[in-house]
Amino acid sequence: MVQRHEQPTELELLIKIRGIKKFFGDKAVHDGIDLDIYRGEVLTLMGGSGTGKSVLLRSLIGLEHPDQGSIFFGNKDICVLSEQQLIDVRKRIAYVFQYGALFDSLTVKENLAYPLRAHTQLSEEEIHHRVVSTLSKVGLEKSIDLLPSDLSGGMQRRVGVARSIILEPEVILYDEPTTGLDPYNTRQILNIILQLKDHGVTSVLVTHDMHAIFSVTDRVAFLKDGKIRALGTAKEIEHMKDPVLQGFISGESW
Ligand SMILES: Nc1ncnc2c1ncn2[C@@H]1O[C@H](COP(=O)(O)OP(=O)(O)OP(=O)(O)O)[C@@H](O)[C@H]1O
Ligand SMILES: [Mg+2]
Repeated sequence: MVQRHEQPTELELLIKIRGIKKFFGDKAVHDGIDLDIYRGEVLTLMGGSGTGKSVLLRSLIGLEHPDQGSIFFGNKDICVLSEQQLIDVRKRIAYVFQYGALFDSLTVKENLAYPLRAHTQLSEEEIHHRVVSTLSKVGLEKSIDLLPSDLSGGMQRRVGVARSIILEPEVILYDEPTTGLDPYNTRQILNIILQLKDHGVTSVLVTHDMHAIFSVTDRVAFLKDGKIRALGTAKEIEHMKDPVLQGFISGESW
């Protein structure tokens, strides 16, 4: 069973989102978003389809560019960094692609070694050790020499998570990490999020999976009409009296 972990008492502000506005055509997907993300927390972005959760997540690593506002990571505003400067940010903030996005022709080991070869000076031996230890975190050390096509969808997803954490990022962004997974693989992914949290890693999650939200999340931000309509601990969100929020949680309305 997945255990809930308590929020650390000393909070360190890690990412500061201020006044984000994003338009596609004349439609405002984000209409003034302010949000603080603290080191070591698990924060879930929750909201109906098309409310801009994925766009917000991608904005955190400069894959989307807000039309207004800032996203401070330390003293840098991610929104104004060049592609070159974003390379450093993306070593510290990892993005887990929904379906793993593995290289089909490379073994699991080579898929995981890829970012290490690109971004570190580690020796082949060190790379091997890092690959094995990271795979063991997702319970897949025995699959090291297999190709992605030899793995189930859930295992591929876990290899994708392993590849995202192999550079030991401070923040991990997950867009619907458990969508479509069976209970076993879902639990494995949620356990990884909690294990990383124990090591001080921050996770930002987009999910429709209420069990995931209420079992691993410290705080929830509920997006509606381009704004954060509700923000609180999972427990607070569960008990807030906002009918729109409760309608969403119960599945009665978007
Ligand atoms: N590149 C784009 N061009 C035009 N519109 C876009 C683009 N990317 C996103 N949108 C629009 O922005 C809105 C928010 O998209 P986003 O993918 O963030 O939604 P979401 O909250 O993640 O939804 P879901 O739960 O369905 O994944 C949607 O209306 C979408 O159609
Ligand atoms: Mg989405």
